[in-house]
This record gives sequence, C-alpha cells and structure tokens, in this order.
Amino acid sequence: MKKLETDTMARADNGWRLGVNVDHVATLRQARGTPYPSVLEAARICRRAGADGITVHLREDRRHIQEADVRALRAEPDLPLNLEMAVAPDIVALAVELRPPEVCLVPERRAERTTEGGLDAAGQIELLRAPVEKLRAAGIAVSLFIEPEARQVEAAAALGAPVIELHTGRYCEREGAARRAELDRLIAAAQRALRLGLQVNAGHGLTVETVGDLRAVPGLHTLNIGHSIIARALFIGLDAAVREMRAAMSAATDAAR
Ligand code: PXP
Repeated sequence: MKKLETDTMARADNGWRLGVNVDHVATLRQARGTPYPSVLEAARICRRAGADGITVHLREDRRHIQEADVRALRAEPDLPLNLEMAVAPDIVALAVELRPPEVCLVPERRAERTTEGGLDAAGQIELLRAPVEKLRAAGIAVSLFIEPEARQVEAAAALGAPVIELHTGRYCEREGAARRAELDRLIAAAQRALRLGLQVNAGHGLTVETVGDLRAVPGLHTLNIGHSIIARALFIGLDAAVREMRAAMSAATDAAR
C-alpha cells in the first residue's frame, strides 16, 4: 500500500496514535459567542501533551467548529489535522483548498446530537465516488467513518479510500456480553480491512475505561477521541486529560505486546 502522509506522524513505539477531537472547545465558545476559549490554543496544548494529531468536525450547521478554526489549525504545520466532514460541495471545496493530511467522511443529520451512526458507504457508492476521488487527487488521505460491517469495509476498499475509521459508539454504549459482541464485530471488521490493505482507525465515545479492550482489535492505527477528554479537562485540565488518555492507551498497547 502507498505510504500515507499520516504515516509520517506514526508513533515510534508502534503504539496507537491519538487524534484529539477539540470540537467541544468550540461548543463552549459558541454557547456564548465569545472569542474564547481558543480552539487553536487548545489544539496546541493537546499536541504538547502527546496528541499525534488534531481532529475537528466542520458540521454543515456550524454548531461548533467554524471555517476560520479549520483555516487557523491548518496554518500551523505542527498540528496535523484530520478534518471530519459530510460530503457537502462547499466543504469538499474547502478541503481541496486547504489540503489537510487527512479527511474523514461522516454522515450528518441536523437533528442529531453527535455523529450517531457510520456512513452508509455500501449504499452510497455512486454518490461517494466523485468526492472521494476529488479529495484523493488533492493528495489527502481519505478516511470513511463506518460501522464495523463487512459490506461497509468492502465498499470503502472499492471506493479507493485508503483509511477507514470504525465507529466504536455501540461498543462503548453496551456492557458485559453485549459489549464483547461489539468488540468481536470491531475485530472482524479490522481483520477484513487489513486483508484489503486499508489503514484502520477507530473512534466515538471512547473513554479511559473503554479504550483498553481495543487491544484485541488488530492493526489499529489512530484513535480519535474528543468528548471524554474535553469533559475530563474541566476537572483536571486539558494537558492532564490528554496525558491520562495517552497513558491508558500506552498501557493497553504495552499489555498486548
Ligand atoms: N470520530 C468521528 C468520525 C467522530 O465523528 C467523532 C465525534 O465527532 C469522534 C471520532 C470523537 O468522538 P467522541 O467525541 O465521542 O470521542
């Protein structure tokens, strides 16, 4: 497989990369329409605390991250950016202009509280073909945020997306045997994706408690985590919250060795 630009950011110890999603810093700012808290400053703190990259979701309704945030983050070479986005023509055009190292295509419904399910890549192959091609032609590593299902993994490969991000929402919500069943779905999807030569990322709903068991999922590259880190930061600070997550991730990957 062609080496992705994201590989240059891979951790030297072969552990998981951490992409910190800072959307909720913008959520707080937008709640009052103040210029603070600064998304850029938050991203810098995350990076210094051990984040390998910064993830933001520019939603069509602009409820948190604004276009100016994406431009400001992209202007900092030391903040490798993963832009989450719906397949909306204006946002595809912005991505092609700014060329972040990675974009992650996500489904979007206006009424949802967060990205509630994966992208139906299998059901929308024709709709996704042109935007995926356009983003790839701009040199961007295109990731598809999908449910851990064989047909979605195969659709991502058929579309030529080099990366998938497996939706861990259901895994995190369930408990006991039901969570174990969701973990098995993640394992099977990752195995299939690796056989197809895809890079496998994961994210959504992860906490320091749920991240450890992901060591059973083969070949995970990057975990994108936001809500739990930003929530924890209210009590212990952002730097410490990122370090705490990093430590939980390292403990998991060390245990798997
Ligand atoms: N990955 C994707 C594709 C997402 O849409 C989100 C939420 O914006 C995340 C990861 C992070 O999820 P959480 O904020 O629940 O950690």
